[in-house]
Amino acid sequence: MADSTKIESHLNEDRKFPPAEAFAKQARIPSMKRYKELYDQSIADPEAFWAAEASELHWQKKWDTVLEWDAPFAKWFVGGKLNVSESCVDHHLQGARKDKKAIIWEGEPGEVRTLTYQELHKEVCRFANALKANGVKVGDRVIIYMPMVPEAAIAMLACARIGAVHSVVFGGFSAESIKDRIEDSGATAVITADGGFRRGGVVALKANVDEALTKVETIQKVIVLERTKNEVAMVEGRDVWWHDAVADVSTDCPAEAFDSEHPLFILYTSGSTGKPKGIMHTSGGYLTGTYATSKYIFDLREDDVYWCTADVGWITGHSYIVYGPLANGASILMYEGAPNWPEPDRFWQLVEKHRATILYTAPTAIRAFIKWGDEHVDKHDLSSLRLLGTVGEPINPEAWMWYHEKIGGGRCPIVDTWWQTETGAIMLTPLPGATPTKPGTATLPFFGVDAAILDEEGNEVGPNEGGKLVIRKPWPSMLRTIYGDEGRYKETYWGEYEGIYLAGDGARRDEDGYFWIVGRLDDVLNVSGHRLGTAEIESALVSHESVAEAAAVGRPDEIKGQGVVAFVTLKEGYDAGPELRDTLRAHVGKVIGAIAKPDVIRFTEALPKTRSGKIMRRLLKEICSGSGAISGDTTTLEDFSVVASLQAGEDE
Ligand code: WTA
Repeated sequence: MADSTKIESHLNEDRKFPPAEAFAKQARIPSMKRYKELYDQSIADPEAFWAAEASELHWQKKWDTVLEWDAPFAKWFVGGKLNVSESCVDHHLQGARKDKKAIIWEGEPGEVRTLTYQELHKEVCRFANALKANGVKVGDRVIIYMPMVPEAAIAMLACARIGAVHSVVFGGFSAESIKDRIEDSGATAVITADGGFRRGGVVALKANVDEALTKVETIQKVIVLERTKNEVAMVEGRDVWWHDAVADVSTDCPAEAFDSEHPLFILYTSGSTGKPKGIMHTSGGYLTGTYATSKYIFDLREDDVYWCTADVGWITGHSYIVYGPLANGASILMYEGAPNWPEPDRFWQLVEKHRATILYTAPTAIRAFIKWGDEHVDKHDLSSLRLLGTVGEPINPEAWMWYHEKIGGGRCPIVDTWWQTETGAIMLTPLPGATPTKPGTATLPFFGVDAAILDEEGNEVGPNEGGKLVIRKPWPSMLRTIYGDEGRYKETYWGEYEGIYLAGDGARRDEDGYFWIVGRLDDVLNVSGHRLGTAEIESALVSHESVAEAAAVGRPDEIKGQGVVAFVTLKEGYDAGPELRDTLRAHVGKVIGAIAKPDVIRFTEALPKTRSGKIMRRLLKEICSGSGAISGDTTTLEDFSVVASLQAGEDE
C-alpha cells in the first residue's frame, strides 16, 4: 500500500541544456563550480553574503546588526537608514548612467516614451512633492490603481521617497477589490488614471475608484493621471489631476532617510479561501534581495534592454520591473497593453523594435503563444534576445522547449524562477552562465536560500520523493507579516514546522538536487492512496501535440478516493472527440503511469484563471464534485463566463 502522506512523483524529464560557452564566459557566475563555492559559503554565513550585497546599495547610515531573528519575525540591517528611491534613481546620476534610459515605454496604441535616469529622478521628485502637498505623510498607505504607464513606477518610487506605503491594486480588479484593499489597509489616498488602454478599448479606472469610494471613508485625496481622456467625474476638494498636482511643485525633493525596516509596500494576494492577505514588505532587506537576484539571475549588463512583461500590480512587477532592475541601473521596457493586440505578434514586434535582450514572462503567456501559432513569431527578428525567464507557475516541459527553440533560437539560457509574493525575490533559479537547465524545473536555490523538502514529520525526504517545500533560514526580502493579522501570518507560514517557512507548494528534488514543483499543496490529488501533484499530469497532457493547456483536479470516487478529471484546451486545428480522449488517456498512461490516467477528460475553450494567469483548480474541483456550485472568493477570477459554461456542461 502506498504511503498516502507522501506526494509521489512520476514524471521523468532527462533533457539537459548546459549554458552556452559564450554566455558562460562573460557571466558573473561562469560555472557550477563557482556557484557551489559561493552557495556553500552563503549558507554557512548568510549574513555575510547578504551584507556584501546590501553594501552595494546607497545607505545614508550603515546598519549596526545584519539580522535580528526572533522567529518568525526578522529584522534586517537593523540601525541602517536608507531611502529606497535613492538607490533606484539618484544613485545612478553620477557618470554616464545619468543619460541612460531608465524606462522605455510603449502604449497599446503604439506611442513610445523614454525617460532617462535623470528625467525619472525629476519626475519622482516632483510627484513626491505633489503627494506631500496633498497631505500624504510618512507611513500613510496609498493605493495605486494605474494602467501600465511610466507614472505607475513613478508613483511607487515617489511613495518610497517620502516614506508612504504603497499598495498597488492590479488595474484589472474591480471596484469591490479596491474597496476591500482600502478598508484593510486604511489607505488615505488613491493614485489612479482616467483609464488605461486594453485590447483597443478603455478600462475605466477612475469610475471603479469612484464606485469603491462610495463604500469607504478613509480616503482624503485621489490623484488622477490623464491617459485616455475619457470623461470622468472629479469630486471637488477630493480629486486632483496629476498634471495640476505637479504643476507648481519643486523638482527638488531631498531623499529623507528611513529605517531599514520601514514598510515599503503592502501587496494583496489571494489566499486559497477567504479574504486576500496583505503581504507586507519593508525597505533595506527587500531592496537587497531584489537587487542581488536581478543582478545575478538576469546577469544584467550595461547595454541590456530588459523586459519583464508582468503588470506592476503583481509582485513580479514590483520586484522585477521597478525595484530590482532600477537598483541595478538597468534599462527597462514597459508595455501597456495586451499581448494579442492588434495581432497576436505584438510581443515579438516589441522585442524586434526595441531590441530587447532579456525577456521575463509567464508560462500562461507562453502557452497562449503556442496556441496562437508559430507564424506570429516567425515574422519577427528576435536575435537581440540573449536571456529568457519564466515565473508564476510550473512550466510544462513542452512549453519550455518551445520557448527555448522558437523564442530563444536555441541560444538563450532560460531562467525558470520560483518564488512568491511572500518571498519578495527569486528563491529557486538557474544562474544563466552556470546551471545546466532541464525543462520544467527551477533547478537550485539562490545564494543564501536554504530550501528543502520535508515530510509530515519534518524530515528531509530522499531524492525524487515528494514533500513540502520549505525555507529554513530567514532571508532579507521575506514578508514581515500579513498586514493587521499577525496570527494569520504565524499560522499560514510558520505553523507547520517550528521556525521554518512553509511555502505551500509540493515539490521533489531529483538526483541532481534540482527542485521540481508539483503543484500547490491544496491541489494535491489522492488516487487510491497515491498522492499526485497536479503539475505532472498536466505536463504529460501538454506534451501531446494537440494540447495547448491542461488542468487536473480530483473528484470524489467511491473506490479510488479520488478520480482524476482533466480539463484540456486544444491547439488551433485539433478537433475534440472521443478518439482524442482515448489517445490522451493512453498518452498520460505512457508518460507517467496508469495511476495518473484521467478518468474523465473535458475539452474546453478556456480554463478559469486568476488575473495573473494561474489556473484556479479550486473552481474546477468544485465544478466536478457534487452539486457543481461555486463557493469562496471568485473576485480574482479573470473571466467568470469560463466557469459558467463549464458548469453548464457546454464543453462536452
Ligand atoms: C507558483 C509569483 C513553479 C508557486 C512570483 C508559488 C511557480 C506561487 C513558479 C506564487 C515556478 C511561481 N515554478 N511554480 N517557476 N513561480 N510559482 O505569489 O505555486 O503570484 O507558490 O508569486 O506561484 O505566486 P505569486
